[in-house]
Amino acid sequence: MGIHAIVGGQWGDEGKGKIVDHFSASADIVARYQGGANAGHTVYIGDEQYVLHQVPSGILSPGTRCLMGTGMVIDPVALAEEINDLADRGFQCQEQIGIAYNAHLVLPVHRMLDGISEEDSRDKTIGTTRRGIGPAYTDRSARRGIPVAAMLDADIFEAAVKEHLRYANALITDVYNQPSLEYSEFQDGLSAARDIMLPMITDVSRELLDALATEKKIISEGAQGVLLDIDYGSYPYVTSSHPGTSGVSVGLGVPPNAVTRSTGIFKAYCTRVGEGPFPTELLDATGNRLREAGGEYGATTGRPRRCGWFDAVLGEYCASLNGFTDLCITKADVLGDLDEISLCTAYQNSSGDFLNLQNLEGAAPRYETFTGWKSDISEAESFDDFPEEFKQYLHAIESALHAPVSLISTGPERTQLITK
Ligand code: IMP
Repeated sequence: MGIHAIVGGQWGDEGKGKIVDHFSASADIVARYQGGANAGHTVYIGDEQYVLHQVPSGILSPGTRCLMGTGMVIDPVALAEEINDLADRGFQCQEQIGIAYNAHLVLPVHRMLDGISEEDSRDKTIGTTRRGIGPAYTDRSARRGIPVAAMLDADIFEAAVKEHLRYANALITDVYNQPSLEYSEFQDGLSAARDIMLPMITDVSRELLDALATEKKIISEGAQGVLLDIDYGSYPYVTSSHPGTSGVSVGLGVPPNAVTRSTGIFKAYCTRVGEGPFPTELLDATGNRLREAGGEYGATTGRPRRCGWFDAVLGEYCASLNGFTDLCITKADVLGDLDEISLCTAYQNSSGDFLNLQNLEGAAPRYETFTGWKSDISEAESFDDFPEEFKQYLHAIESALHAPVSLISTGPERTQLITK
């Protein structure tokens, strides 16, 4: 059966949480493979809103096993809080969650360093979520990080955190000229988080390999989006992991050919938070209209998102890079009252033989204009209910990205999904 990957095709915030939740209902396992508390996956069930940061969105489907893979950087204190909040709302996570023993930990000092480096004039401002993601992945690569497995023994864990703090404090005081952190400041929080996580620590790779062998239905849940990939995104304005399909294999410990379907999730327009190039950004009334109509404020940080037209040049890049077998278009209802809708199909001044994502600043989009459908599609019950103008817009996206649209999300509710 293989793994069905759900991957963000833009700069994150495409609405992956809802789509993962949709597929989770019939899945045995949902697994996160990268990122950490920088994600904010919003799922609505009736009037109830759930914003999940580290726990996979499958948690809202009782009986679905939720795995947190090796490629993640896990903030134990924030995770404990999320698990406790879910328990207060009736979702008991203990049995459902498995945490990879070789994922890495985000410590309070990583969050602090993320914030300090964003503010320090010697460092580039990326507009990070300040959740400690970059510093934790840096420590992992520099081989001074702390894997989850250190938690298995209380003494080893304490020694590892203290040893790491010695290094981090030297950086904080000597390089950044800031007051050092004391272990005692976060000792209790880490210890309480360890108690919650301990029974969940497991060999995620082995569990998935066994599940693949027994034809279990597995969903991999991407966080962020392909344009924020550390290697294939708009570097340096990226996150520090691999949100794309190729991240699934290394981030979960499964062979690359275990992924048999990869659905690219695209908002019907584009948004971006943080710094970095955004060729189709709208800095006018239409951009503001999209932000307000789409509620485009970050689920993790509350920051207003930058808004713009769908960029099919970057869309095609992401679709081919990730082998998207099909596409899901979200938030199309937000475009419902516009007279005209633009789709970027080329860059006027693109030079050279390849699309250089490190040099998008001057890219001048060339647009194809579509007549707006001027109607509320949120009530549609089948694809046939959609207005012709909207079908034409979808068709143009399919043609540009060379992949079929399989699913359309027409509103925030769990049930507002149309299969094509
Ligand atoms: P970091 O992942 O917190 O290091 O942030 C790096 C960049 O990725 C910044 O531009 C963030 O705004 C962006 N980013 C990180 N997580 C998300 C997300 O879940 N949605 C959208 N953007 C994100």
